[in-house]
Amino acid sequence: MACFRWSDSQFAYQLATVVALLFVYLVAKAVHNKFISPLCKIPGSSLNAVSWLPWYKYWFSGYMHCEVLRLHEKYGPVVRIGPSEVSFIDKTAWKDIYSLKRCRQIERDPKSFPSLTPNGSKFDLLTYSPSDHARYRRILNPCFAEKATKTYEPTVRKNVDKMVAKLLAIVEKGNASINVTKWLQWLTFDMVTDVCWGESFECVDQEKSHPCLALSMDLVSLSSFIVFISWWKGLKDLLVKLSGVEGLFVNLVRSKCENNIKLADASKKASIYSNLRAAGNPLNQAELDGNLTALVIAGSETTGFALTATSYYLAKNPDCFRRAATEVRSAFSSADDINDDALKKLPYLKATIDEALRMTPAEPNGLARKVVASGGLDIAGQFIPKNTAIYVSQFAANRSSSHFHLPDEYHPERWLGDAAFENDDLDVVQPFIMGVNVCIGRGLAFMEMRLTLAKLLWEFDWTVEGAGGKDFEQSKAWHVWIKSHVHLRFSKRGDVVIC
Ligand code: HEM
Repeated sequence: MACFRWSDSQFAYQLATVVALLFVYLVAKAVHNKFISPLCKIPGSSLNAVSWLPWYKYWFSGYMHCEVLRLHEKYGPVVRIGPSEVSFIDKTAWKDIYSLKRCRQIERDPKSFPSLTPNGSKFDLLTYSPSDHARYRRILNPCFAEKATKTYEPTVRKNVDKMVAKLLAIVEKGNASINVTKWLQWLTFDMVTDVCWGESFECVDQEKSHPCLALSMDLVSLSSFIVFISWWKGLKDLLVKLSGVEGLFVNLVRSKCENNIKLADASKKASIYSNLRAAGNPLNQAELDGNLTALVIAGSETTGFALTATSYYLAKNPDCFRRAATEVRSAFSSADDINDDALKKLPYLKATIDEALRMTPAEPNGLARKVVASGGLDIAGQFIPKNTAIYVSQFAANRSSSHFHLPDEYHPERWLGDAAFENDDLDVVQPFIMGVNVCIGRGLAFMEMRLTLAKLLWEFDWTVEGAGGKDFEQSKAWHVWIKSHVHLRFSKRGDVVIC
């Protein structure tokens, strides 16, 4: 009995020692983070400097983009978001973090960018290996050069025409409530798959999401939470396996590639896969699986969202709608005349897209990079030590009152030299980022957006339904926005006076 009491108290003593040591360690770490760390001079709240708890709270809430904006409005252009994480909104930070000259000193941070493509991103553009990334870019860049992109225009037009015909049939039955989020997501998924292989996944035809589209949406949400367990590689790999991405995408990529070889029509049509075949198949099977999956995931969701946002903001701002519609309707004599070379010359149309990308950039939170240079680096005038996560927060930069007049209002005019916005810092808006990882599909995305909007503006007028759009304005976001369904009332052009 005495012995039991003795070991009992010994256990209590040991436990108390462990707790005390842990407490001392945490206090010492907090003191170091707040007063000694090279990041201690960076503005921000004391709690964020010493603990990750606020970070987790922001991330779980889905409103990290709003929290980071709030912190920047309070503390200025550089803010410490966590003990070893710093957010910037200054335009010089874009160059200092993402430019080519920094590619050996700063790398993608795998913790905040978990890969979900087949084989864990070893074989695609989203890889963390700078040398593999450079090789994939060298191989794929020609497929996205201006000349190659132009050859995809007939494919893009055909898909847009198909959707417009479907919408016309709906509208002809009486002015209609259209879920633009859904239709534009179907369209952009069809366009990117058709451009990849010369064969679309036919979401618009069948008026339903292909399982791969549904899966890529789920993956985007999943990736947001995988961030928390990315340090536990086994569990992360298991979750990715359970998601079914490998099987579904790999089988599809392979069957579409085989069809492209078999079907004379598909292989004659300009496509990324045909271009790769013409270049002598420079990617092996695993690399094809990974890269084509990455293109489909990166190229559908983003463009669909940007189109939804532009359509919504136009509906919400009838003056802007009228100006955009007038520009398009007076530039052509028929819908068949609408072509991308002519659309490139329409400044207001371009400004409507630029302004939507400013208001709601496809990736609103910072695309984190990690400093790997042993001596640390200067970023936008601040010394940043090795192993710090750094980024430009797009939403915070684009909505900052220090960068824009009326930052929360949609004014395409700010892109056209309007005097009211002469002090706007337009260079801060980089929806496709810049440098090493600049979006490979930005030229294609702009062509898709121009043609889709122009053809919609040619045929239809549209307005917001009642209080519709409130959900859109309050969307949550992790890596990308969580979709809220935007319903707009469509009518044939001229049937309803847009006032
Ligand atoms: C409005 C539409 C789009 C937006 C706003 C957008 C935005 C972005 C952004 C911000 C990145 C950088 C991600 C990072 O480094 O962490 C990126 C990369 C990428 N995008 Fe896009 N994108 C769009 C359309 C497309 C399209 C149409 C495609 C292809 C069909 C595409 C393919 C890619 C790929 C493969 C990457 C990775 C590039 C690399 O790391 O080298 N994107 N995009």
